[in-house]
Amino acid sequence: MPEAAPSAVQGAAIAHPELWPALSSPIPVDEALESRIRDLLGKMSVEEKVGQTVQGDLGSLTPEDVRKYRLGSVLAGGNSDPGGRYNATAAQWLELADALHAASMDTSGGGKAIPVILGIDAVHGHNNVVGATLFPHNIALGAANDPELVRKIAQATAVELRTTGFEWTFAPTLTVPRDDRWGRTYEGYSEDPALVARYAPAVVEGLQGKVGSASFLDATHVASSAKHFIGDGGTEGGVDTGDTRLGEEQLRDIHGAGYGPALQAGTQTVMASFSSWNGQKMHGNKSLLTDVLKGRMGFDGFVVGDWNAQGKLPGCSNENCPAALIAGVDMIMAPDSWRGYYTNTVAQVRSGVIPMQRLDDAVTRILRVKFRLGLFEAGLPSKRLLGGKFERLGSAEHRELARSAVRQSLVLLKNNDRLLPLNPGADVLVAGDGADDIGKQSGGWTLSWQGTGNKREDFPGAQSIWQGIKAASVAAGGKATLSIDGKHDRRPDVAIVVFGEDPYAETPGDRPNLAYNPGNDKDLELLRRLKAEGIPVVAVFLSGRPLSVNREINVADAFVAAWLPGSEGQGIADVLFKSPKGETVHDFTGKLAYSWPRRAVQSPLNFGQVGYDPQFALGYGLSYKDSSQLGQLPEDSAQPQWSSQPGVFFARGLLAPGLTLMFADGEEAGVAVGNLPSATPSRSLGVSATDHEAQEDARRFTWRGTGTSSVWLHAEAPLDLRSESNRDALLVATLRVDAMPSSGVDIGIACGKGCVGRVPALARLKTLTAGRWTRVAVPLKCFAGAGADLGRVTDLFELRAASPFELSVSRVALGTEYDEAVSCQAP
Ligand code: BGC
Ligand code: BGC
Repeated sequence: MPEAAPSAVQGAAIAHPELWPALSSPIPVDEALESRIRDLLGKMSVEEKVGQTVQGDLGSLTPEDVRKYRLGSVLAGGNSDPGGRYNATAAQWLELADALHAASMDTSGGGKAIPVILGIDAVHGHNNVVGATLFPHNIALGAANDPELVRKIAQATAVELRTTGFEWTFAPTLTVPRDDRWGRTYEGYSEDPALVARYAPAVVEGLQGKVGSASFLDATHVASSAKHFIGDGGTEGGVDTGDTRLGEEQLRDIHGAGYGPALQAGTQTVMASFSSWNGQKMHGNKSLLTDVLKGRMGFDGFVVGDWNAQGKLPGCSNENCPAALIAGVDMIMAPDSWRGYYTNTVAQVRSGVIPMQRLDDAVTRILRVKFRLGLFEAGLPSKRLLGGKFERLGSAEHRELARSAVRQSLVLLKNNDRLLPLNPGADVLVAGDGADDIGKQSGGWTLSWQGTGNKREDFPGAQSIWQGIKAASVAAGGKATLSIDGKHDRRPDVAIVVFGEDPYAETPGDRPNLAYNPGNDKDLELLRRLKAEGIPVVAVFLSGRPLSVNREINVADAFVAAWLPGSEGQGIADVLFKSPKGETVHDFTGKLAYSWPRRAVQSPLNFGQVGYDPQFALGYGLSYKDSSQLGQLPEDSAQPQWSSQPGVFFARGLLAPGLTLMFADGEEAGVAVGNLPSATPSRSLGVSATDHEAQEDARRFTWRGTGTSSVWLHAEAPLDLRSESNRDALLVATLRVDAMPSSGVDIGIACGKGCVGRVPALARLKTLTAGRWTRVAVPLKCFAGAGADLGRVTDLFELRAASPFELSVSRVALGTEYDEAVSCQAP
C-alpha cells in the first residue's frame, strides 16, 4: 500500500490536545512549597538556572564539575560505573553519590545549595550494581499479568536504589512494542495497551509510594520516570529511535495507554522519546510535550530528555539545541556533551533565543520534584534511612520475590504426553549454553548496557537455572548432571535444554526478522541429537521477544518460554518439578503478553489486527491441567539471514552469529574482547564503543604505539568466501581514522595455522580525511594473492599495527560499493 511521505501530511505531527484525556495532577498544589520555589528561583543566576536543566553522565564529569557548573542532575548510563569499571561495589556507588550530593550543596563558589538528583536505569531491579536482585525483564512480568507483583518489585527496587544513594530511576518503560524486531521489545510489558495501562500505576506507586500517603517519595521510595513519551514502540519496521507513523487517536490509544494512569499515580518525571511521530522527533514536539502532556494532562513534574536525543533535532547538535528546551524538555540528558550544551544554552538564554519564562518553568518543575523528594533536607545519601544498608541489596526477601516472579512469568507452549511436571527423583541431563550462565539469563541492562561480558563472580548470591535444577534434584534424591553440549555417558530419563538469545540492548538488539539465531543451528542440533536417542526433551527458551522457533518446538516434547528471568534461576525448577512427595507445587500460570509468530517474516504481529494469524495468540499459555497435544507446526522452508543482506559481518554494533571480536599482543594467542572498554594484556591496543549512525554501533581501536597488536573477527566455523572472490567481491569496511598511523598497518585474512594473507593499508589510510566516515574496500583477491585460502577463512578483517593509531569501524561486509579502495601490492 503506498504511503504518503510524512512531509506530505500537513500538520501530521501536531497534536490536538482536546483529543487527549483531560487530567489534573493528583498532588494538590502546595502553596508553601510553591513559594519556596519562587523564592529560590528569584535568587538564581542564569547560569544556575541553566545548570539545573542539564544532566551529565558520571562517566564524563567529576563532583568538582557539579560544584562549579551547578548541574541539576547526574545520571549513571548503562556503561557508567564509579571508577570507570562495569562492576563497582555498592560501597563505591554510595561514596560517589555522597560526593556528588556534597558538591551540589557546596556554596563555596557563591552558588545556592540545590541538591543534585541522581538517576539510573533500574529497569529490572537495580541492575547496574553488583549484588542487586535482578528481577525478570518486563516482557516476563507482562506474562505474569499481576499488577500487585509489579508493585512489590518496584518497591523492592526502590529500596535497593536507596541503599546506594539513588533517588530516581528511568522506569517504568510504558512502551507498547508493536513490532518485535525492535531491540527493546523486552523492556515493554505487553503489546496490549490495556495491560500496560493496568501495570503503569502499580509500578509508579511501588517506586514512589502512594500519593497522599506518608510514604510518598519518602526515603524508602524514589522518583519514577515514565518512558519513552510517546510512540517508542510503534516505529516503522521496529527500528530503534525510528518513526512512528500513526494517526493521533491511535497514538493516544495504543502508545499513550500507560501515561494517563502513570500521571494519575503521580509519576514525577516523564522521559521524552528518541523516536519521531509522523516524521518529527519527539524532543522537538511542543504540541505533545507541552500542550498535551503538561497542559491537557496536567503533568506538573519535569520532562527529562533521552541520551543526546536533542542532537538529533534538525539544526541541533548534542552541544547546541535550544529547540528541545523550547519544545518542553525540561532537563536535557547530555551525558558527555553537558559542558558545551550548558555554555551554548546560557548564551541562548542571554540572547533571548530561549525565553526566560520557559527556562523558569523548566527550573520550577525540577525544583518541585527535588522539594517533594525532600532532597534539600535529606543530607548525604549515606546518612539517609537506607543509605549503606547493603543487607537490603539483594536481600533474601527480594530474591524470594524475584523467584516467585520467575515462576509466574513462565509460559508453557507445549507439553505433549504431559511430560511436565518432572519427577525430581529422575535422572536429569541439563544442557544448552543458557543452563549455567547468569549473564545470559539476565539479558541486556545487566551490569553493563548490553549485558555482555559479565563474569560469574559479578553475580554474588544469584542462582543459575542449572543450580536451581540441581538443588531440586538433590532435595529429592535424584540425579542431575550438567553437560552444556549434551554429551553423556549414561542415558538420562529426561533432558532439559536451556538456550536462547544472547544479551543485547537498544539498537544493537534490532533484527531484520524474527528468526532465532539465523545461520547457526547449534541449539536445534543439540535438541535433535538428544531426541534421536529417544530421550524426552524439555526446551527452556530464553529470549527478549517471541521468535520463530517452530523447528525447535517440533523437536521438543515440552517447550517453555522463560524470557529473561534474571538472577533467581531456581524459579524455573520450582515449576518444572513436582515436590519430592510427588505433588505439583507450582503450576504454570503465565500467559503470552505478546503474540508468538508462526514464521520469521511475520511482523508486525499484534492481537486484533486484520488477518491475525499467530502461532500462539496473545493470552496463550498451558497449565498442568491441559492435556492437549501439539501437532507438528509448520516450519519456515528457508531460514532467513541475521541481516537483510548476506555477507554482513559487523553492523549496527552487532557481529554476525558465529563471529567473535578478538585481539592480541604480538604473536600471542588471541582472546575475546569482553566488556568495553577493554585492552590487550600489554595495553598497547584498546577497544571501546563509539557512535556512528546509532549509539555504540561502532568500535574504536586505539594503538598506543607500545608494541605490535592486532584485532580481528574470528569465525567459530570456517567461512568459504571463494565464490565471492570470483565475482570480484570486496571486503568493505566503513571506518573513520581518528589518529593517523605513522608506520605499517595491515589488513588481513587468516585461514588456520600458518595460513594468512595480509594487505598493507598504510598508504591508502593516509589519504583519508581524519574524522570522516569512509567506506574503504579491499578486493578479496588481494588476500588470496597474499597467501590466504579463501575457502577456509577462520579470521577476517585482522587489523595489525604498531605505531600510535586510532581507528573506528562501524561496518564490515562483503560488497561492491565503496569510496576508497586499497590496491593489491604487486608480489
Ligand atoms: C544507554 C546508556 C549507555 C549509552 C552508551 C545509551 O543508550 O542508555 O546507558 O551507557 O547508550 O553510549
Ligand atoms: C535510553 C533510555 C535510558 C537512557 C539512560 C537511553 O539510551 O533510551 O531508556 O534511560 O539511555 O541510560
